[in-house]
Amino acid sequence: MRHFLDIHTTDAADLRHMIDHARTMKDARKGQLKGTPDAEQPLANHIVALIFEKPSTRTRVSFDVGVRQMGGQTMVLSGADMQLGHGETIADTARVLSRYVDLIMIRTFEPATLEEMAEYATVPVINGLTNKSHPCQIMADIMTFEEHRGPIKDAKITWLGDGNNVFASFVHAAPAFGFDLTFAGPETLDPDPKLMAWAEAQGRPVRIERDAEASVDDADLVVTDTWISMHDSQTARERRHNQLRPYQVNKALMEKADEKSLFMHCLPAHRGEEATSEVMDGPNSVVFDEAENRLHAQKAIMRWCLEV
Ligand code: CP
Repeated sequence: MRHFLDIHTTDAADLRHMIDHARTMKDARKGQLKGTPDAEQPLANHIVALIFEKPSTRTRVSFDVGVRQMGGQTMVLSGADMQLGHGETIADTARVLSRYVDLIMIRTFEPATLEEMAEYATVPVINGLTNKSHPCQIMADIMTFEEHRGPIKDAKITWLGDGNNVFASFVHAAPAFGFDLTFAGPETLDPDPKLMAWAEAQGRPVRIERDAEASVDDADLVVTDTWISMHDSQTARERRHNQLRPYQVNKALMEKADEKSLFMHCLPAHRGEEATSEVMDGPNSVVFDEAENRLHAQKAIMRWCLEV
């Protein structure tokens, strides 16, 4: 059973294969209408359940489109509308869904929910985001970097802002792909110390930098994310904004980085907060390529899970 639960729990050679496969599949579709079936239909006769316990635009649409392009069918399910939201256990839900569908993608809150789904499902399970990680996003980001700049090995990546779930997946990916990470943000929003200890044990310690300008001076890639994640309390909004304002990615900050530095944001963005429109729409930005590559990367992930 091949689940895709996190980057660091997936074999590095398999991750490399998925990125390369995603690029091949993207190239093969160039110039075609989005609804054109892929030449190969590896998901023919497959049904995929897409479960969302949190909002989504990119994950929902890119998985749905990806399955359809590969000849499969989808059902998009809201956790709240399922018995899952009314007391049925994850384990029972996993066992029941496995009788109907060939693959489950779930976006949920706690990693324990994802892990229990994977433990009891008899079909592959994909992590579509938890409070602790977002591996599909980082696979798309690595693909995007390599499209623009070549191999990501030895690249220097600076993350500014909150040490959140998306950043955690960058940390998970660094040993497998061999890149260096710098985190720049206020101490109060530092990444989980256990995650930092894990990175150190892998021989890929994360550099912590409190000065935003110093953090980007040798960066090949500058990344940020929304200052308040879906699972964060809105009551802390003002305090977070005050703490994170020095880490806004704006034109002045990007001018401190190399002129070839890429800018990424997984979206949705709050323009004028974590990043300005000048940067989001500027010459270094690849944010919409990142969004597109969710589609291609996830198609490769689904094919890997299903071995098709
Ligand atoms: N980046 C991302 O996961 O987007 P959605 O929340 O819209 O799926």
